Amino acid sequence: QPLVFSGVQPTGNLHLGNYLGAIRKFVALQETNNCIYCVVDLHSLTAQLVHDDLEGQTRSITAAFLASGIDPKKHIVFNQARVLQHAELAWIFNCVARIGWMNRMTQFKDKAGKDRENASLGLLAYPSLMAADILVYRATHVPVGDDQKQHLELTRDIAQKFNNDFSDRIAELGLGVEMMMGEEKVNGFFPITEPIIGGPAARIMSLRDGSKKMSKSDPSDLSRINLTDDADTISKKIKKAKTDPEALPSETDGLASRPEAENLVGIYAGLAEISKQDVLNEFGGQQFSVFKPALADLAVEKLAPIAGEMRRLIADPAYIDSVLRDGGDRARMLAEGTMKSVRQIIGLLDN
Ligand code: TYM
Repeated sequence: QPLVFSGVQPTGNLHLGNYLGAIRKFVALQETNNCIYCVVDLHSLTAQLVHDDLEGQTRSITAAFLASGIDPKKHIVFNQARVLQHAELAWIFNCVARIGWMNRMTQFKDKAGKDRENASLGLLAYPSLMAADILVYRATHVPVGDDQKQHLELTRDIAQKFNNDFSDRIAELGLGVEMMMGEEKVNGFFPITEPIIGGPAARIMSLRDGSKKMSKSDPSDLSRINLTDDADTISKKIKKAKTDPEALPSETDGLASRPEAENLVGIYAGLAEISKQDVLNEFGGQQFSVFKPALADLAVEKLAPIAGEMRRLIADPAYIDSVLRDGGDRARMLAEGTMKSVRQIIGLLDN
């Protein structure tokens, strides 16, 4: 039985990369799967402990989920801190994972910078909490943008090591399920999660620099399109987006050494839900002076309704909190079911 889990941090503005790389996929997956979508407030403490308005940010991400079309009645929407089992399993995974695994994470290296001794311990252990988010529900599929790929590989490593380390106990207690590990059939407690990454928008780049990903933390607001930007701002940012002087090519091969052009074509493809080649079939041979206004119109058409709905929802924090409370209650039931078994497997008395 597939189960989808994903999370978004409540830091900074949600941008087009978050939307196309992740949230839009969340919406599509809910049609045919059971899904759990989480605002990962505990994760947001790893880089910045003291926030201006963490409650407001958490509600705003929740509003973005709902405004994009996630149905909180059919699926589960909640914030991580409500379900203590995430932190409990993360502790256990801290003891499963090795420091070397964490040290190799490129996101840790980027965020910690040169002064690693001064990075928070939480930043180093970040992927362990992420693995716990997923595995506390024994989720099988995780839609994310390309930048989370390495963390999901680590999640698989943690699941596999837990399954191996405790294989005798898992078998003795009859808690294993049969699963495929590549070609091999194995019996384990935690599933080996599949990432869902891909499509033309798995990695949206900065509008100012085609070699950097679009990011909440980029100091230049012109580098990203925020989900809450109004129509004029969206148009202005696309107009100012960095490009080269050439016309668009008619084949995707022609985008290979043109990162800014490739990014804008990818954004168009993502928004229109077509392939990059389809975009080039329409715009190949055209100048950016033609393509950019078309892209701006499309972006406004797709994003303005979401921004409007987000504003409406944010004006009613009591409703948002009720969604998170209800989702939290349902998530906790599932998570506690897993943790009962985990405690039993390890030998942690909780009776
Ligand atoms: P976060 O909050 O940084 O980003 C949320 C989602 O947006 C995707 N994303 C992008 N996709 C395409 N292009 C971009 N420029 C871009 N920037 C961000 C991210 O890949 C992500 O899917 N560690 C996660 C949060 C997390 C999580 C989890 C995810 C915590 N626990 C469990 C999945 C499962 C993060 O920081 O995402």
